[in-house]
Amino acid sequence: MLASLSAHTSGMGSHTILAKLSDWFLGPPRFRVPVDAGSPNFRVRLLRPDDYAICEEIYRLNEVKHFPGGFLEKFVSALKSPRHVFLVAEVDGRVRAVAGFSMPANLSHCITWLAFGMVHPESKGVGLGTTLLLSRLAALPQSHTPCTVVMTSVGGSNTFYERFGFRYFQVPPKFNEYGFDHYRVHLSLGDRIRCEQSLRGIQVAEDEIRAASEAARLASFATAAPSQFA
Ligand SMILES: CC(C)(COP(=O)(O)OP(=O)(O)OC[C@H]1O[C@@H](n2cnc3c(N)ncnc32)[C@H](O)[C@@H]1OP(=O)(O)O)[C@@H](O)C(=O)NCCC(=O)NCCS
Repeated sequence: MLASLSAHTSGMGSHTILAKLSDWFLGPPRFRVPVDAGSPNFRVRLLRPDDYAICEEIYRLNEVKHFPGGFLEKFVSALKSPRHVFLVAEVDGRVRAVAGFSMPANLSHCITWLAFGMVHPESKGVGLGTTLLLSRLAALPQSHTPCTVVMTSVGGSNTFYERFGFRYFQVPPKFNEYGFDHYRVHLSLGDRIRCEQSLRGIQVAEDEIRAASEAARLASFATAAPSQFA
């Protein structure tokens, strides 16, 4: 066992070896909800075009510490892409956080890709990041669970996602253009329902979010591109 392990892992970084070992011994990482989502004065709804300016401002306020240079354009184009769903969280009527996801078409794996989750620096630590993560997962179409949820950690956010069970995994370099660290978790239908339940105290515009989520899933399948996990 040890000989084959060392043959299999030769040439890998320690991060990758640990990830492989934990997959072998513990199985795929399982989602967990560490805490309930934030407070009743939060409101979660779909992004609208008149939110673009505040989202760009939130991005700029986070950019230096959390995003690599030159990504603002990618953020703005993701906000407008029909294959992404972006949610915003308002506090007392003001947008304070934004977060997106997409469901890349793939015949062999059901994948949800989290994108550009960020909170206004003055509103961090009050539950908005948690609320938007749970809202995104609760919004997945029923036909899209169970699935693997993937995120890339660009500015130390992996410790936040690890609280929910996300674990590092290795993506082949040819599919990892920017060299980001990838993290993933398995989300069952029961997990998705638990996400919904933990949002009970919060105003969530569920119907419009679900409709957008289904439309984005269909848009991805209509323009299927080769997936990095095929
Ligand atoms: C990561 C982020 C989305 C978390 O949002 P948030 O609203 O501050 O988080 P919440 O209030 O829901 O949860 C905070 C809890 O997570 C914990 N946590 C662990 N790692 C953390 C991290 N890297 N950042 C923030 N909180 C973290 C905090 O200690 C806190 O725990 P507590 O409630 O037990 O005290 C936010 O800090 C952010 O915008 N980061 C910058 C942008 C970014 O890196 N985004 C991800 C890349 S796409």
